[in-house]
Amino acid sequence: SVREEFKLADYNFNHEPCILPHKYEKYAERIHNLKIYEDDVWIITFPKSGTTWTQEIVWLLDNNLDFAGAKETDLYKRSRFIERCIFDVIDYDSVEFVENMPRPRHIKTHLPVALLPKQLWIVKPKIIYVARNPKDTAISYYHHYVNIFGYTGTKKDFLNSFIEERVIHCPYFSHILNFWELRHEENIISFTYEDLQFDKKDVIAKLCKFFGKMYSNAQLLELMKHTSFNSMRDNRSCNLVDVIKNTKKKYNLTDSDYSFIRKGITGSYKTEMSKEFNEKFDKWINLKLKNTDFKFNFCK
Ligand code: A3P
Repeated sequence: SVREEFKLADYNFNHEPCILPHKYEKYAERIHNLKIYEDDVWIITFPKSGTTWTQEIVWLLDNNLDFAGAKETDLYKRSRFIERCIFDVIDYDSVEFVENMPRPRHIKTHLPVALLPKQLWIVKPKIIYVARNPKDTAISYYHHYVNIFGYTGTKKDFLNSFIEERVIHCPYFSHILNFWELRHEENIISFTYEDLQFDKKDVIAKLCKFFGKMYSNAQLLELMKHTSFNSMRDNRSCNLVDVIKNTKKKYNLTDSDYSFIRKGITGSYKTEMSKEFNEKFDKWINLKLKNTDFKFNFCK
């Protein structure tokens, strides 16, 4: 209804333009006008924030911990990346995949609030939002750029572009802060990569409540193990080995030992970011968070 949409307009959002490949234009309208169902499950993140990790946990929780089913079908087919098509040279209509998915649909997106389907705010399906501290996000994204997008610039250039909010799906800060505004909505649950890292049990308990699911301790223990870093890194259903194999060939990255489930720690930046950038990031973070009550854990 008009009134509900109005409510969204009442929020204090910062709708800066989002950096996206040209091809997005071709799909923008269809994504914005997508029909939403009440039983949809939307996983929304800025890239490299623990999306894959969350998708696997959430899919299992919502599907009666069907571990066999999860092994059998690749995660990207069970939990579809709606704007995947904007990265492809060839036509691959990921929006159509989402339109035709069996329900309940699990959908992943990195789009900011303003570009999401407008019916999300009317139909109000379950939305899971995950954020990650900007330093680890930037380092993780740098490896993604090199190994998946074939980026040939330096790490320094990449980190500067990140701070200048010029990499794909930026701006980073308004992505997170706009969802922070929405955190009290009943159909939205938010947590951080760091919460998953340091208290996965608690995040899973909250997700069980959110989904109205009850599982035994033994079942939850199995879920904890199944979604550990090592299990997911070795799980072909989640680790995108075939995609990585292709991109290695395509960009001639023969020396790279990159795996999509890469390091899986909080504080990668401590060894992978120079002192100069660490300080630049601190300044940038302080500036962006000055007038908000949002705080990152584990950033120092
Ligand atoms: P790193 O590159 O820092 O290792 P996304 O899925 O949003 O692209 O996020 C990818 C990041 O999540 C990568 O971070 C990856 O290693 C990490 N990740 C994925 N599965 C994980 C798990 N089970 N445990 C810890 N980290 C995980």
